[in-house]
Amino acid sequence: EINQMPREEGLDHSATLMREGYMYIPNRRKSFQSDVFETRLLGQKAICMGGKQAAELFYDRDKFKRSGAAPKRVRQTLFGEKGVQTLDGKAHFHRKEMFMSLMSEEGIQRFVEMNRDNWQNAVDSWIDKGEVVLYEEVKKLLCKSACRWAGVPLSDEEVDKRTDELSSLFESPAAIGPEHWVGRHGRNQTEKWIGELIKQVREGKLLTEEQMALHVISQHKDHEGQLLDTEVAAVEVVNILRPIVAIAIYINFTALALHQFPEQKEKLASGGNEYLQMFVQEVRRFYPFFPFAAARVKKDFTWKNYTFEKETLTLLDLYGTNHDPDLWDNPDVFNPERFKEKSDFLKYSLIPQGGGGYYDGHRCPGEWITIEAMKVCTDFLNNRIVYNIPDQDLSYSLVKMPSIPKSKFKIKHISWK
Ligand code: HEM
Repeated sequence: EINQMPREEGLDHSATLMREGYMYIPNRRKSFQSDVFETRLLGQKAICMGGKQAAELFYDRDKFKRSGAAPKRVRQTLFGEKGVQTLDGKAHFHRKEMFMSLMSEEGIQRFVEMNRDNWQNAVDSWIDKGEVVLYEEVKKLLCKSACRWAGVPLSDEEVDKRTDELSSLFESPAAIGPEHWVGRHGRNQTEKWIGELIKQVREGKLLTEEQMALHVISQHKDHEGQLLDTEVAAVEVVNILRPIVAIAIYINFTALALHQFPEQKEKLASGGNEYLQMFVQEVRRFYPFFPFAAARVKKDFTWKNYTFEKETLTLLDLYGTNHDPDLWDNPDVFNPERFKEKSDFLKYSLIPQGGGGYYDGHRCPGEWITIEAMKVCTDFLNNRIVYNIPDQDLSYSLVKMPSIPKSKFKIKHISWK
C-alpha cells in the first residue's frame, strides 16, 4: 500500500521558509501531525522530515546522497565548491578520514591549550576596555585559535580582516542582496589567502608542523592518489577555520544560558567535568544554530508507505529534532540533568551538528572541538572572571538564520576572580 505524503499546496514555499526560519519544518510537522511532509522549495519538489527515525533514514548512505544537495548560494558562501560536504561514497569516506585524523585526542588537547591561552590574553585586554561585545571579541579570539591550531600564519595586523572574512561566510548563507555579496567576497578573499599558503607549503617555502591541518590538507591525496586541486584544498582548510570562528555563536548562547538560568552557576561551580559536559550538551540542544541539513534521494524507495523519488531534495529538521516532544521531556525547558544517562539514543536525537556516524556519514567532525571550546568558555565566564551585564536586547530570533542574540552580548567591568 502506497500513501500520499502529507503535502503543502502551492507553487513554492522558499519565502515561507525564510519567514518562519527554524520553525518552518517543526510547524508543519505539528500541523500535519507527521514527521515527514512534501512541499516545494527552490522551485522543486522537496521532502522535509524530522525526529529520530527520520534522522536514521537521512543518514542511510544507500538512500541519500549529497551531490547536488547544497544550493548554489550556500556553496558560494558557507561551504565552497567541491568540499567534503558535497562528496559521496568512497570519495567522501576517504576525505572524511583525513578530517577525522585531525581530531585525535592530542589534536583536541592542543586546541584546548591554545584556546585557553587566547582566552587568558583576551580577558587581560578586556579589563582595560571597560565594556566589550562578547560575540565580536570571541570571534577574533577563535580566529587566532583556529589559525594557530591549523598552522596558518596570522599576524596581529591581519586578525580583524581575516575574522571578518571568515565570519561573513557563516553570517550570510541564507541572505539575499548585500549580505550575500559580503559573503561571496569573503569566500573569494579567504580562498585566495589560503590557496597561496597551500602553494607555499607544497613548494617548501612555508614550513608547517606535520600534524597541522594546513600541512595535512596540502599533502593529502584523494582516493585516486591525486593531490587536491589548490582550490579544493583551500576550501577544506577554510572548512576548518570558518566553523571554529562560528563557535562564537555557541559561546554567545553559553553566556546567555548562564544569564537566563542563573541557578546553573552554582551547579557548574561544584559539578566538575561531568556537569560541565551536561550543561554544554544542553546549550547545544536548546539554542538554535543550523536549522536543517540537506541531501537528495539516491534511488527510489518507500518508507512508512511513502514514496521517496530519486533526486528529491530532502531536508532533515535539526532544530526541531532537538526540540521534539516525542524525544525530550519538556523540550523547551533548559535542563542539563536530562543528559545524566548517556546512551546511544543521542546518536540520532541530539543532532545540532548532524547525526549518525563521523566516518560513514556527514556528521560534523568538529563536534568535539566545539564542545571543548564551549567548556573552556564556561570555565572562564563562570569560574575565572566576574563581569556585569549592562541593559541590552538579548533576545534571539527563531527566524533569522543563523540566530545570534541581538545585542551580541555586551559585558562590562570585567576582572579576574
Ligand atoms: C558538518 C554544525 C563546528 C567542520 C556539519 C554539519 C552541521 C554542522 C549541521 C552537517 C551535518 C550533515 O550535513 O549531516 C556545526 C556547528 C558547529 C560546528 C553548529 C559549531 C560552531 C565545526 C567545527 C569544525 C567543523 C569546529 C572543524 C574544526 C565541519 C565539516 C563538516 C561539518 C568539515 C562536513 C562534514 C561532512 O560533510 O562529512 N557541521 N559544526 N564544524 N562540520 Fe561542523
